[in-house]
Amino acid sequence: MSRIARLASRLEEPLLVTGLVNVRYLTGLESSNAAVLVDPSGDATLYTDFRYAEAASEIDGVTFRKTPRLVIPALSELLSGRRVGVEAAHLSLASAEALRAGGVDLVSTSGQVEALRAVKEPGELDAMRRAGAISDRVYEELAEQPFVGRTEAELAWWLEQAWHDAGADGPSFDAIVAFGENGARPHAKLRDVPVPEGTLVVIDAGCAVDGYCSDCTRTFFTGEPDGRLRKLYDLCLQAQLDGLAAVRAGAAGRDVDAASRVAIEAASLGEKYGHGLGHGVGLDIHEEPSLRPESDSVLEVGNVVTIEPGIYLAGDVGVRIEDMVVVTEDGCERLTAVTKEPVVVG
Ligand code: GLY
Ligand code: MN
Repeated sequence: MSRIARLASRLEEPLLVTGLVNVRYLTGLESSNAAVLVDPSGDATLYTDFRYAEAASEIDGVTFRKTPRLVIPALSELLSGRRVGVEAAHLSLASAEALRAGGVDLVSTSGQVEALRAVKEPGELDAMRRAGAISDRVYEELAEQPFVGRTEAELAWWLEQAWHDAGADGPSFDAIVAFGENGARPHAKLRDVPVPEGTLVVIDAGCAVDGYCSDCTRTFFTGEPDGRLRKLYDLCLQAQLDGLAAVRAGAAGRDVDAASRVAIEAASLGEKYGHGLGHGVGLDIHEEPSLRPESDSVLEVGNVVTIEPGIYLAGDVGVRIEDMVVVTEDGCERLTAVTKEPVVVG
């Protein structure tokens, strides 16, 4: 069944899809301005402007309707008098007001397309396997690079080029390269400061292949690790392995998250692991399902999630280790498989 047909079979009233990644998922159209109206009957109308008209007119399974440059004012006329579901997460208040002012009866909905996206099809998994394989190659090459004396920004630029050289579309997000105290900030900003000897360098980076993202983090040692840093690394690795071991279809996201906290809490460092264990990945770098203490997700075969515990000692160092995996009936398959043995870089 097509994606649109699967969505339609879940609908009670027409759904106006305005999230651009959701539009892409349903129709294949990549654009900065489009919407698709999916009817419970399975009929679908794709709205976009002149710039994407040729591409949109070639898409099977939808009726294309060209709009002026701004889709929402056009829809407020075209849909006037109708009751339609809208994606609350992907419709601005201004757009909702414009639609209502035009006489469209809006019903707020959430997560309908995202729920489909969370379970990957074979073709999507193929793209994600390729993204993971490129990620592994690039991280192997990265481990051969000199770190000491190069800045975080320089290493991030090396990564950006490496993704292209390796055949990816490009990066899936702005790389995080963070040593020492900057590594204690999970989403650190790049600095123009050279990496010194004797520290930990957190590198969180990924690429996109056919639009599908990879996400992987490794923490490198510059120079032979002293006992304290090595213990911190081993603790994070234990948490990561515990998280991986808890992944399987039917597992609750919050339980998988909890499994990754046991070792870190036993070391009295629970407070230093202040984010969730992981997130879904796909066309977006962060999507459903979620692995967090407050998660309501239950894992299903075909979900792709990250497993990325971290320990962050403010003003000192941080460590994070992350793999991306696909959920199977009784466990998971790693899509990123580069070594997690401690790697010493020059
Ligand atoms: N890779 C960045 C993040 O997951 O937040
Ligand atoms: Mn991640």
